[in-house]
Amino acid sequence: MPDSFRPVALEHASRLINHGPTVLVTSAAGARRNLMAAAWSMPVEFTPPRIAVVIDKHTFTRELVAASGAFGVCIPGQSLAGLTYAVGSTSGRELDKFARHGLVTRPGPVLGVPLLEAGCAAWLECRLIPERHAEDAYDTCFAEVVAAAADARIFVDGRWDFRDDNTELQTIHHLGAGKFVRAGGVLHARAA
Ligand SMILES: Cc1cc2nc3c(=O)[nH]c(=O)nc-3n(C[C@H](O)[C@H](O)[C@H](O)COP(=O)(O)O)c2cc1C
Repeated sequence: MPDSFRPVALEHASRLINHGPTVLVTSAAGARRNLMAAAWSMPVEFTPPRIAVVIDKHTFTRELVAASGAFGVCIPGQSLAGLTYAVGSTSGRELDKFARHGLVTRPGPVLGVPLLEAGCAAWLECRLIPERHAEDAYDTCFAEVVAAAADARIFVDGRWDFRDDNTELQTIHHLGAGKFVRAGGVLHARAA
């Protein structure tokens, strides 16, 4: 883990994707590994923390996730917008996207899922919840978060801390056709 990454308590893991960042779904099975972009993910349960991610059943990622029962959700900062678009526009069936883009991964602490940290603000390591009746019907995958970590330069005391000096790590949100908006413009609301 780079010096700046710190474990995130599982009770705070949902906060990492609560605001709807576009994420990188990482996976591996046997000798194959892969990553793809996903704009659709959300927390769905508090304890244990569970999330839902839409992983199109035609993707190579889905094949690896079904085979391994696990995946990673890595949260790219704005410097990885180009990479995010690229890995969301090509399939890992034809090439190893990690090698193609020179990406270095670390194994997740619980399941060994390949996780990306350089350029990312955080990651969640997830165990797939098998939904046998839904396997062929739905693209949505449910999973339990078994470990999480975030860069302490932008996630502090269990909360995002977007500031002028950490815009590179601020999360990105897909508007379509490769256009993203970076999170920021923080508003402090008062419950009036
Ligand atoms: C910004 C962006 C967001 C995407 N979001 C999703 C998503 O939420 N769910 C999904 O199934 N595919 C999504 N895709 C498409 C997949 O990333 C794409 O099908 C990818 O090529 C699958 O790769 P694979 O076959 O190597 O798994 C998105 C693509 C982009 C560029």
